[in-house]
Amino acid sequence: MTLLKAVRGTRDLLPPETELWERVEATTRRVFARYNFGEIRTPIFEDTQLFARGVGEETDIVSKEMYTWEDRARAQSEKSQSLTLRPENTAGVVRAYIEHKMGETGLLQKLYYIGPQFRRERPQKGRYRQFWQIGAEVIGPPSAGSESPLRDAEVLEMLASFLDELGISGWTLVLNSVGCSTDRPRYVAALREALAPVKHQMSEDNQRRAETNPLRVLDSKDPSDEAIVANLPKIADYLDEASKAHFAAVLAALDACGVQYEVNPRLVRGLDYYTRTTFEFTHGGLGAQNALLGGGRYDGLSEMLDGPKAPGIGFAMGLDRLILTLQAGQAESAPTLADAFIAPLSESLNAEALALARDLRRAGLRIDLGDGAFRIKKSFEIGNKLARKIVLLGEDEQRSGILTVKNFATGEQTKIPRGELAQALQNS
Ligand code: HAM
Repeated sequence: MTLLKAVRGTRDLLPPETELWERVEATTRRVFARYNFGEIRTPIFEDTQLFARGVGEETDIVSKEMYTWEDRARAQSEKSQSLTLRPENTAGVVRAYIEHKMGETGLLQKLYYIGPQFRRERPQKGRYRQFWQIGAEVIGPPSAGSESPLRDAEVLEMLASFLDELGISGWTLVLNSVGCSTDRPRYVAALREALAPVKHQMSEDNQRRAETNPLRVLDSKDPSDEAIVANLPKIADYLDEASKAHFAAVLAALDACGVQYEVNPRLVRGLDYYTRTTFEFTHGGLGAQNALLGGGRYDGLSEMLDGPKAPGIGFAMGLDRLILTLQAGQAESAPTLADAFIAPLSESLNAEALALARDLRRAGLRIDLGDGAFRIKKSFEIGNKLARKIVLLGEDEQRSGILTVKNFATGEQTKIPRGELAQALQNS
């Protein structure tokens, strides 16, 4: 028999590393709450149509990377349905926005999520088939100000503050505007025209993109096509006045709050729903997969999903990549030690030891528990690995109600009445 392992591209997250994940998640909740975001939890699988229509049939995500299956009907009243593990969560959030008529509040909805996403990509450092995203979306009716460039700048400023608070420096914010439904078609036409005479010299992937979705060619990472891509028309030259003014206002608001950025006219991103502002935060320490996060505006997505007009802007961060960045800057984390290890000295004292552990845990202490079947030497060895102190519970201790506590770091041994133990452990 072969030993079963986690599937390629997936991995187990174990303590103590998970403590770092918990810290990042706690910082997310704390910082995002200051900007008045609330958490949304959507299902991990959705109707395949949501991604085909929302993210775009021609994107790599939808055409190559989704985990899709035909879910058989279990009863006559049900229909078989094509389902997909979510490859991203913006489409799911907008579906929920429409389904719950959240626009009827007349307010902006500011929603964030933390959860796993699934893409069948070629695994490498920082790229997994199950990965985690921290994302946020600001969406609402135009009357709530959802189209305002202020929203773009606020989201970007929140990201800069969040990364600062986590202690991540050395990131670069790269920004672009990809225009809207009126100016983009003109640009796409110009791209087609420029690609027509040269596309046969390009990689097979880019030849296909040049046909189906020429914007995707700009996103190409193929070094042999670089020279051609560099000479293609730039979207900045095709933006209409409204898109230009919108982008200029985003940049001015970023300048006003001191968020540094670079404008990259080739940043188009791999999802079809984007309009106007698109952005990525990159980090040099990440290697080939250097995008810490990506996002942008999606003013037409709700309508693409048959919802009301509901412009929005958001982002998703690769939590796995945030963790890699944090780990690169610090020594391997040591496990957190318990406040005390309780060692019953015979099996008949196990129940009493459990009751003592319960009392200390209820007092808020982190307690681990041995077993009276262990020899005392073994209890000390285990206790020393798991906790800062050991509490010995023998017949004498049980009778007198006075416990022996040894501090592993100092070697100091003290006698403490049971009723004072929680306080004593808390204070030292
Ligand atoms: P995305 O650029 O596809 O955008 O993904 C966002 C981030 O997720 C990436 O920058 C990266 O950090 C992380 N990521 C993506 N794929 C992987 C992977 N295979 N392994 C590890 N990390 C990965 C979106 O998903 C959009 N929904 C973002 C958005 C929200 N736009 C507007 N609102």
